[in-house]
Amino acid sequence: MKHTDVKDLFAQSEKFANGSVTVCGWVRTWRDSKSVAFIELNDGTSLKNIQIVIEKGTLDENEVKQALVVGAALQVDGVLVSSERNGCEIIARKIALLGGCPQDYPLQKKHHTLEFLRTIPHLRPRTKFFEAVLAVRSRLAFAIHKYFQEHGYKYVHTPIITGSDCEGAGEMFRVTTQPWKTSAKTEAEYFAQDFFGARAGLTVSGQLEGEVAATGLGKIYTFGPTFRAEHSNTTRHAAEFWQIEPEVCFCDLSDIIEIAEEFIKYVISDVLENCVDELAFFDERIEKGLIEKLKRVVSNDFAKITYTEALEVLKKSGKEFKYPVEWGCDLQTEHERYLTEEYFKKPVFVTDYPADIKAFYMKQNADGKTVAATDLLVPGIGEIIGCSEREADLKNLETAMKKRGMALEAYSEYLDTRKYGSVPHSGFGLGFERIIMYVTGVQNIRDTLLYPRTVGSL
Ligand code: 4AD
Ligand code: MG
Repeated sequence: MKHTDVKDLFAQSEKFANGSVTVCGWVRTWRDSKSVAFIELNDGTSLKNIQIVIEKGTLDENEVKQALVVGAALQVDGVLVSSERNGCEIIARKIALLGGCPQDYPLQKKHHTLEFLRTIPHLRPRTKFFEAVLAVRSRLAFAIHKYFQEHGYKYVHTPIITGSDCEGAGEMFRVTTQPWKTSAKTEAEYFAQDFFGARAGLTVSGQLEGEVAATGLGKIYTFGPTFRAEHSNTTRHAAEFWQIEPEVCFCDLSDIIEIAEEFIKYVISDVLENCVDELAFFDERIEKGLIEKLKRVVSNDFAKITYTEALEVLKKSGKEFKYPVEWGCDLQTEHERYLTEEYFKKPVFVTDYPADIKAFYMKQNADGKTVAATDLLVPGIGEIIGCSEREADLKNLETAMKKRGMALEAYSEYLDTRKYGSVPHSGFGLGFERIIMYVTGVQNIRDTLLYPRTVGSL
């Protein structure tokens, strides 16, 4: 169907002015009076609706009646004219109904609660809120690829079905084709009969395979779906989320921290530049001062503090935390939020966590107690990046794995990366939905995904 995107009409209204144009879209709202009717048409290319002006008597009455329906899909031929209020609008010459929309269409009102919209995920993209979220999501994904491609990283695709658990803690979804009842007498027999002849699951992280790729390609990144069967029913956890995981050889913790900060600033700057309407909308409707916040993030250094120093800050805060603060404890959301929101009031890298609360692959520090790891915490959310230098020494790595009761045989290929030409290397994982939340001010991860998957909800 030959037609022009509404985005292009607004961007090049002078070029189109006083000429014939065709647009297609859905009716967001309409108004009718004796001599003239107005339709706000949206085609998804622009957050702004194009106003269709219907001068009564110039069009077939039936045609008009069918078009003045919220949710109806239309093709409109007309003349583009400039308008003081809207920049430009279209005087309709012909309106074709592409798809009618009966009265039970749930999006009749202009504003709906986000809770209500979650009950109709298949219709959410037709709202301004979701159109804006998906536009930012798309642009952020592009900016992320752009950053890595411009900086010499290769994009690798790591498997989604895997036999190895990267993060530990038994949070993997199982992948199976087995019927629920089999002739197997033992667990080993059961998995031997399964499709892969072994226990398989959905990946919780592409890191281990990413490290394998990096120890040949030098620097790589992954960008794909990851899955966690966590029962954390919070506004920041999804069972299926997207993760960006760069892995860089010849790079220690301080180098990767520098990269992470530069990268976060790069992608935020890109969105500031390319999602102007969307950010203005979120600034007005979701988080007042959002654009100023993002500009401050881009133009100021992130803070840095060690875990041990952070505990001192928390102890001296005079705050009553629900979870007690003792060296060795994992930082809870309340602790993370105090540090980033009240103490530093900006993004902060917390470094050198106790080895016992972190994953097996992290480089052990000389103190024998901590690892060269960091989490990037941001106001309003908490952790958005998990990062570390990797343990490059084979013996140390094996010891850490044994201490955690891991079966070394299952990781023999991974261990080969330390056996053959092992190098210092580091990487991080950015939660894609978490950074979308940070950039848009959206409070619930369920509102950043087209179809959120969370515990009890598919
Ligand atoms: O801190 P995590 O568990 O780190 C890893 O998976 C490492 N293998 C990353 C690496 O070094 N390559 O997860 C990384 C990030 C978190 O900081 C968080 O932003 C996000 O992934 N994340 C989730 N996002 C949404 N829902 C969940 N259930 C998430 N779990 C982690
Ligand atoms: Mg983490």
